[in-house]
Amino acid sequence: MTVLLEGFHAVKHALRFAPDLVEAVLVRDLDEARGLAGRLAPDITEQLLGRAVVGTVDHPTGVRGTARRPVEDRSVLARRDTPLVLLDDPRHPGNAGAVVRVAAAAGASGVAVTGRLDPWHPAVLRGSAGLHYALPVLAVDASEVSGPLLVLDADGDDLTTVGDDAVLVVGSERAGVGPELRARADGVVRLPMRDGVSSLNLATATAAVLYAWRLGRPA
Ligand SMILES: C[S@@+](CC[C@H](N)C(=O)[O-])C[C@H]1O[C@@H](n2cnc3c(N)ncnc32)[C@H](O)[C@@H]1O
Repeated sequence: MTVLLEGFHAVKHALRFAPDLVEAVLVRDLDEARGLAGRLAPDITEQLLGRAVVGTVDHPTGVRGTARRPVEDRSVLARRDTPLVLLDDPRHPGNAGAVVRVAAAAGASGVAVTGRLDPWHPAVLRGSAGLHYALPVLAVDASEVSGPLLVLDADGDDLTTVGDDAVLVVGSERAGVGPELRARADGVVRLPMRDGVSSLNLATATAAVLYAWRLGRPA
């Protein structure tokens, strides 16, 4: 199945992490694309220009592309060396995309998503800037995921350590983490907030916990 890479950053990340999957690169103007790539991503400039075809591109960066979806690596649902993020029924594609982006940046093993939102929907890819190509992004049933489940909840216990094999369960915008995953939790943890603030955005909470894990590891 082919997906649309909207903009320079999405094309850049797909070329960097999964060059064999990139099918086409369309640019508005070759010199403009050369300038942008030279400035922002010299490592992929040659690849980008080597594949570029000039055409109509309405994205502000003047670059777009298409790529095949990777073969799914579902092994991370059972075993992992770095935390897996499990989004429980998220509703907003932009939030899910932001989670994929920070999960890739922090070095998570993958992002698994329960519920009806397709984690490969174009609007989710837009939010991740193409970082879907840097780690497994999977639609799952909660029953497929195993390992120490750390539920993130504003009413939980104070966050202390996060294990390398943790499954970080993050709830939906309205309802939080559902009863099925709560019942299986090995711990329920919170990020402290100032009085009067009810919750963080789910991608912000994911980012804070992933970086607490990453910065707490030996260098
Ligand atoms: C917008 S919040 C959901 C708020 C929802 N009304 C509730 O009752 O949980 C989305 C998710 O982000 C995570 N989250 C938000 N703030 C948090 C905090 N202070 N500590 C831990 N997790 C938090 C939780 O996983 C939560 O389910």
